[in-house]
Amino acid sequence: MEIKGTTKITGVFGYPVSHSLSPIFQNSAFEHLGLDYVYIPLEVKPEDLKTAINSIKIFNWVGVNVTIPHKRQVIKYLDEIDGVSEILDVVNTIHNIKGKLKGYTTDGDGFIRSLKQDGNFNPKGKNIFILGAGGSSYAICGALINEKVNSIFITNRTLENAIKLKKHLTEKLKFKNIEIIEFERRNDKKIWQNIDILINTTSVGMKENDPLLIEKINIEKVKFVYDIVYNRKTELLKSAEELKIPNLDGISMLVYQGAISFEIWTGKKAPVDIMKRAIYEKIKK
Ligand code: ATR
Repeated sequence: MEIKGTTKITGVFGYPVSHSLSPIFQNSAFEHLGLDYVYIPLEVKPEDLKTAINSIKIFNWVGVNVTIPHKRQVIKYLDEIDGVSEILDVVNTIHNIKGKLKGYTTDGDGFIRSLKQDGNFNPKGKNIFILGAGGSSYAICGALINEKVNSIFITNRTLENAIKLKKHLTEKLKFKNIEIIEFERRNDKKIWQNIDILINTTSVGMKENDPLLIEKINIEKVKFVYDIVYNRKTELLKSAEELKIPNLDGISMLVYQGAISFEIWTGKKAPVDIMKRAIYEKIKK
């Protein structure tokens, strides 16, 4: 990759940012298509976010991703946000359009594209069981509702956060078919009779000795398992494989959410296979 005076700059602002895999697959995609773009990770402390966002205009960057902990805080510094971002109150992609900064969120759509294209699974009319009620859960639930799922069951370690998520989805998206399952009751057999997809949006599974939150006897009932954890094969994914249930890990979602950002910045179709290959090669090392 050759950096020149004409090179268009993109990147990611996060704190921390050193673990980010986005530079690897975004730069591979630019290179593969011969685009004069570069993607740079930058550590931005919360107190410096406003200045950093302003610098996108000063340096005429094409756009950036924003990640933990800036996804909500950044909104107040933007000129415009797209409809989904407004509903979910979260932004992960900024596009500099002639000096005006517009915010988008690509996590939810990235999840749906990944489920349909890599998982060959259409969530329309399906019953969903979601573990977790953090930022990823908001994005995924919002996107699933847009895809016209039938029902959503939410369980979360902190009940209060699940209640907030339900309230948000009911009020903003007018979706009524949401049931909160108390965390202690998550393995009740009768809940699992009609669940089609089990989705883990929590960080449980990222560490080696993390527990399996759902018993195998219940996992066995579902048609698809999705775990957004991407740094290792979790107990949940190992169980799905053992039970021969179709499944996906978080790399697929990571690539598709990045692919949508890429398309916003370049206006070109992202080479998702190249992006995936770049990540797998990095992880294997
Ligand atoms: P993200 O933006 O990636 O979703 P987050 O907003 O910090 O991250 O959300 C993390 C999710 O993982 C939350 O649902 C959290 O549950 P709480 O609301 O109780 O914090 C869940 N989580 C994290 N550690 C967990 C654990 N050890 N057991 C169960 N749930 C856990």
